Amino acid sequence: MNITIVGTGYVGLVTGTTLAELGNTVYCVDIDAKKVARMKQGSVPIYEPGLEEMFLRNIQAQRLFFTTDIKEALDKSEVIYLALPTPPGEDGSADLSYVISVANQIGEMMTDYKVIVNKSTVPVGTADKVRETIAAKTKIPFDVVSNPEFLREGFAVEDSMNPARVIVGSESEKAQEVMAKIYQPFTNTGIPIIFMDEKSSELTKYAANSFLAVKITFMNEIANYCEKVGADVDKVRLGMGSDDRIGHRFLFPGIGYGGSCFPKDVKALIKSGKQEGFDFQILEATEEVNQNQKIILVSEIEKYFKGNIEGKKIALWGLAFKANTDDIREASSLDNIKILLEKGAEITAYDSIAEDNVRQVLGDQISYAKDMYSALEGADCLLIATEWSEFKNPNFELMAQKMKNKAIFDGRNMFALEQVEDKGFFYKSIGRKT
Ligand code: UGA
Repeated sequence: MNITIVGTGYVGLVTGTTLAELGNTVYCVDIDAKKVARMKQGSVPIYEPGLEEMFLRNIQAQRLFFTTDIKEALDKSEVIYLALPTPPGEDGSADLSYVISVANQIGEMMTDYKVIVNKSTVPVGTADKVRETIAAKTKIPFDVVSNPEFLREGFAVEDSMNPARVIVGSESEKAQEVMAKIYQPFTNTGIPIIFMDEKSSELTKYAANSFLAVKITFMNEIANYCEKVGADVDKVRLGMGSDDRIGHRFLFPGIGYGGSCFPKDVKALIKSGKQEGFDFQILEATEEVNQNQKIILVSEIEKYFKGNIEGKKIALWGLAFKANTDDIREASSLDNIKILLEKGAEITAYDSIAEDNVRQVLGDQISYAKDMYSALEGADCLLIATEWSEFKNPNFELMAQKMKNKAIFDGRNMFALEQVEDKGFFYKSIGRKT
């Protein structure tokens, strides 16, 4: 089948590459001419394990094409995926201007039946808006489908090739048939495809992300309480997770959730609720608890240095919002850096993957180390903000030699307590005894 993808951001590029891998011929459109030129030459604009290989394989196989010409790409396919940005506006609600503008263009340019599939995370009712926008421009029949994406950064290829489920929101039988055909390689291997109406499908995406944000935040509160009463969150987590109604995943406490999805989607759902006169009380609490959780170790660092961290040299391991990505959007590292700098500390950070992105935001307000051990040179303490694997089993002797003072504040619970205490470090993690 021929498929067109409008927007080659994270979701568009991964979706396009996956659909090409499944044997379709895929035309990706983007307004960024430089990016399109680079992709045509085989350069992948994002860091994602396994993506480059799949991307190059499909370009070579003549199944994956790039263009800036939306008309050309529209004419090639019956199915048009929209993978456009829906950034949060000033008030937290999703900005639909990109989606609506492309819907206008589709309405003006289409010459035969199209299935318009929305992959972006959009508020409930967006499919209706897209339908009205296109219908105002053309009499040619078309269908609009909501088909939310559930992939995780860092596991995008794995998740998109092997999704837990495919959600298709459409009441049109014709569109359902087209979508069932596209996803047949998945359904053949037992991956469920769940059909529903557009609104339920749009809400499923927000509900899933918000639920996971609540799950993490709940665990963070349990972790904070563990510290108060002398319990160990690792034990509580194992005990709770063994109940398969709860499950072991997404129960890892730390310095809060970040990234481009959870914070944005929780805010947007609260905001859409308000527009309907509905208060998502649990989500409002989640946002507030998470904001405090992101910087929970700053007060511990201050306490350790008797209230004054001015001039203290702090080594920071990890800048990305989580491991296996260069994404720093809403990363806890940035919240910590901001406050620590305001309080007069000096920061030397190490994150070989996310460093370039942080340099663009913070420039030389902090220093950057070329490896994890040189970040520790003369440091008064170490703060760990991202759970990169390379931090999991460090050479503690070397760390002790480099650091001026042996103190670790670990926002990702990387080490077993005995492992660090035996080496004579002060070690503060989340929800475990100091
Ligand atoms: C999330 C969802 O997991 C995807 O299903 C969804 O498709 C995606 O958002 C999206 O809407 O596009 P992602 O933002 O890539 O994916 O990251 P996650 O792996 O879900 O992690 C989100 C945050 O939660 C990170 O800051 C991570 O450190 C934190 N987290 C995660 C915890 O603090 N504890 C955990 O146990 C799990």
